[in-house]
Amino acid sequence: MHFHILGTGAVGCHVASLLRMTNHKVTLILRSQKALQDFKAHNQSISLTLKGKSASVSGFDSMVLPSAPSQGPPIECLVVATKAQSVIEAVSPLKSRLTKNSTLLLLQNGMGVVEELMDTVWHGQTSPRILVGVNRHATQRTSAFKIINHSGWNDPEGLVVGERLQQGESPRDDSPVLKTLSEIKDLSLSIVPWEDLQNRMAKKLIINASINPVAALLDFTNGGMIDDNPYTMNLMRELCYEAYSVLENLLPGETAESLFESVIGILQITRQNRCSMVQDMNAKRPTEVDYINGYLCRIGKNQGKILKVHQTMVDLIHAKERVAKP
Ligand SMILES: NC(=O)c1ccc[n+]([C@@H]2O[C@H](COP(=O)([O-])OP(=O)(O)OC[C@H]3O[C@@H](n4cnc5c(N)ncnc54)[C@H](OP(=O)(O)O)[C@@H]3O)[C@@H](O)[C@H]2O)c1
Repeated sequence: MHFHILGTGAVGCHVASLLRMTNHKVTLILRSQKALQDFKAHNQSISLTLKGKSASVSGFDSMVLPSAPSQGPPIECLVVATKAQSVIEAVSPLKSRLTKNSTLLLLQNGMGVVEELMDTVWHGQTSPRILVGVNRHATQRTSAFKIINHSGWNDPEGLVVGERLQQGESPRDDSPVLKTLSEIKDLSLSIVPWEDLQNRMAKKLIINASINPVAALLDFTNGGMIDDNPYTMNLMRELCYEAYSVLENLLPGETAESLFESVIGILQITRQNRCSMVQDMNAKRPTEVDYINGYLCRIGKNQGKILKVHQTMVDLIHAKERVAKP
């Protein structure tokens, strides 16, 4: 099977390497001529550290992302591994190569990307098959095309994927992409129905929305968020309760308090980590706040609710990004 990888950072290089290591044809779609130069300087290979062992993975095809709609044969599977805010810009030029027989695998954190793609790229027209993944692999890009996969291969739910069905479609059990990916042991893939995936995404979103902006504003480690600091605890509880009030329907069996306990549990077992929003802020990169807290504000608005604490976090994060802009 031929996979195209869009977004060649930590996640894109991780998936691309595992696919090449199992002899699949992989084309990397590079963002710019500069990325192509970096790839050539890296001998057109990816350096991957997995389970403590380093390897150089080669045999990739590559192309630079066109700036205008591109012609070419249909893409069989496009793995989209950019940050959430870059998906529309990155996928749009490839639309003419994505037919109803293509598959799109979206691997972003946060929520709202699928709806945005359907509204702005496909405008209700027939789209490719859309798979969405909740990715628990922790992968770090140390330099261009050099990555370390810290965890995930040993997690039974390393990558949980569900298919978003079009209106009126009934669940299918015949995705060649999922069959191929489930044969890659180190990806640790599990396949779940869409409702189940939505439930997992909502839970992850609430946890991220409660921790990330507070940690990014204060430049705290996860441990710093819970160590003798009643003020961060108050803020996280407020965020968690407000988020639950708009996603309750996706979370049967949970309460705002059970989710807050999950927030604290995650912080306790990842004390040394800095969450992705802290890392983005420190690297002066745009954060994914519009797809985390911003998404909750949009959902709230549709329900006639104003999420004041989340909106304040979105504004503060954007204000800090603006000051930090290189
Ligand atoms: N890393 C993890 O452990 C992890 C785990 C779970 C979920 N996630 C989620 O996975 C997604 C990807 O994360 P990541 O860590 O892989 O990010 P990343 O390392 O920043 O990689 C993103 C890649 O997308 C490229 N890109 C940005 N805009 C683009 C555009 N318009 N067209 C084409 N390519 C573009 C970037 O190019 P440049 O190289 O030029 O910046 C970069 O190569 C995020 O939503 C993240 O939250 C990450």
